[in-house]
Amino acid sequence: MKAVEIKPDIFWVGAVDWAVRDFHGYVTPNGTSYNNYLIMDKQITLLDSVKHDFAQVTIDNIRSLTDPSAIMNLVINHIEPDHASSIDKIMALAPNATIYISDKGKKGLDRHFDTSNWKFRIVKTGDILNTGRYNLLFLETPMLHWPDSMMTYVKEAKLLISQDAFGQHIATSSRFDDDFIESASHSELEDSVIDYYANILMPFGQLIKAKIAEVQKLGLDIDMIAPDHGVIWRSGPGSIIQKYLDMANGKASLSIAVIYDTMWRSTELMTIPLMQGIKDEGIDCKIIKLRATPMSIAIKELWKARGCLIGSPTINNILYPSIAEFLNHLRGLRPKNRIMGAFGSYGWGGGAVRDAYDEFKKMKLEIFEPGIQVLYKPSQEDEKKCYEFAREFARKVKEYHEKFI
Ligand code: FEO
Repeated sequence: MKAVEIKPDIFWVGAVDWAVRDFHGYVTPNGTSYNNYLIMDKQITLLDSVKHDFAQVTIDNIRSLTDPSAIMNLVINHIEPDHASSIDKIMALAPNATIYISDKGKKGLDRHFDTSNWKFRIVKTGDILNTGRYNLLFLETPMLHWPDSMMTYVKEAKLLISQDAFGQHIATSSRFDDDFIESASHSELEDSVIDYYANILMPFGQLIKAKIAEVQKLGLDIDMIAPDHGVIWRSGPGSIIQKYLDMANGKASLSIAVIYDTMWRSTELMTIPLMQGIKDEGIDCKIIKLRATPMSIAIKELWKARGCLIGSPTINNILYPSIAEFLNHLRGLRPKNRIMGAFGSYGWGGGAVRDAYDEFKKMKLEIFEPGIQVLYKPSQEDEKKCYEFAREFARKVKEYHEKFI
């Protein structure tokens, strides 16, 4: 896509990656974009770069506006390779540019490139770069989501270039949220925001709240938020900030995700009365077979719901491998404000349900005990027990959900 002017003399010069489906192991069924921005001011300033495969795309976009050798400043808000792995190509064309970066960013960059001939200015929160008509204020955002991360606020444009925060993995010809909603849908955009938050930012809820409070205290007037992935928020950026605050506070819908795997369908058969019991308590329920669903989608569905039931057969006295992997990954994401229960089948010695509860306890999640297990295959009696278990779990979920209203 060609360069797009997002504010007077400030251009999106990034690349849309329509084809990526595996983003370092995270499934991206809708592709993504690598957004970077060029300020055509007295001092021409580039903010961020793109993934190395797309270096020529951003260089061509820059060339459509200026010779890259005219770039005087390169702001690097984040050094993860999807944003920083074409910096060497940019610097080869703009050797006189000064790089503005956080201290941790510089240290990381030194590990990836030979930086000995590049000029650097290490910046911290509150430092300002004047490019002519614009003043760029730097805001360090360590661990949102890497230690080096920062954002850049362009004061006179009321523009926050927010790096990964507020992004979405969407490949689209729309550059702005309102255009995307018109061509696709609000719910598709909302789903992408939740997916991105759940899989990337879930561990950092407290930091997100603190950083938003800090930005509010600084009194920054923001009328556009431009992340480094997905669409730019120009129609009331307050709504995406509120959405982040809500998610950081653990907001969820009154619904239950049932996430399971199965060997010979016994655990799978248990999901039928479970779903019915949940439904009969008036709660929406989504059933997710883990072996048929990318893990990042299962994480998103868990994060949307207030309650979650994990189902696993016992194999060799422990959890089924896909469920063990899922719970291990979930623990790293440090979920909060969710209530969990477990179910499963076994042949001789059990173990899966016990292990699932051990994992929930490690995560310090609210739990509903005991779980439910069936021997070999659910009988009619077992199905009735599953149904009653699900009804009781659903009632607990309702009760727990009340705390967040
Ligand atoms: Fe989009 Fe942390 O990189």
